Amino acid sequence: MENPERTAEHFARIAERRASLRDACVSILASKTEFVWEIGCGHGHFLTAYAAAHPDKLCIGVDIELERIERAVRKRDRAQLPNLHFVRADVHDFLAALPEAGRFTTIYVLFPDPWPKKRHHKNRLIQPGFIATIATRANLGCRLYFRTDHREYFCEAQAAFESSPDWQIACEAWPFELPTVFQQRADVFYSLVAVRRGLG
Ligand SMILES: C[S@@+](CC[C@H](N)C(=O)[O-])C[C@H]1O[C@@H](n2cnc3c(N)ncnc32)[C@H](O)[C@@H]1O
Repeated sequence: MENPERTAEHFARIAERRASLRDACVSILASKTEFVWEIGCGHGHFLTAYAAAHPDKLCIGVDIELERIERAVRKRDRAQLPNLHFVRADVHDFLAALPEAGRFTTIYVLFPDPWPKKRHHKNRLIQPGFIATIATRANLGCRLYFRTDHREYFCEAQAAFESSPDWQIACEAWPFELPTVFQQRADVFYSLVAVRRGLG
């Protein structure tokens, strides 16, 4: 049976974590509310190069692993990029904490955990519910770049975008290429671009 005190503590911890994330987001978004978002940025290899090549764009990388974010922050500091920020957070907490004005112009999801076992597929990031949620914070025309080396996950993600009322798969080249750590280890990989569309 559930222990009501423990459940209350659990929710209080989530609320506290999200409140401090919200403060971090408010301070990052002080200058601009539109940003390029990388989900599961690892140690920031890709987004650091991207932010250096796009000094006019605010870039935010999110990863749940503290050690990876610490490395990413060191990279950012060495490169002295004021337009680049790394935040340690679970992606769902980040979304819940993001101030209302925050909007994505571009989203990168590069080699997310594939959760290969069938009973773990529910943990995959790209799913109909998740892409519907992020669509609510994505500007019209926002591009989402998804890449994985797991063919079956790719097909599942493709099907989710194809049946989404919010996203349309586009046949476009990637405007910025830089192999991530996981891409360098992959023999083959599959990519798609989805565009946030309007109603009608
Ligand atoms: C397979 S690695 C890929 C890292 C990097 N994108 C690359 O291509 O080299 C997946 C990354 O997603 C992060 N991650 C997994 N679940 C997450 C979550 N719920 N929220 C934020 N980051 C998450 C992991 O910590 C890890 O760094």
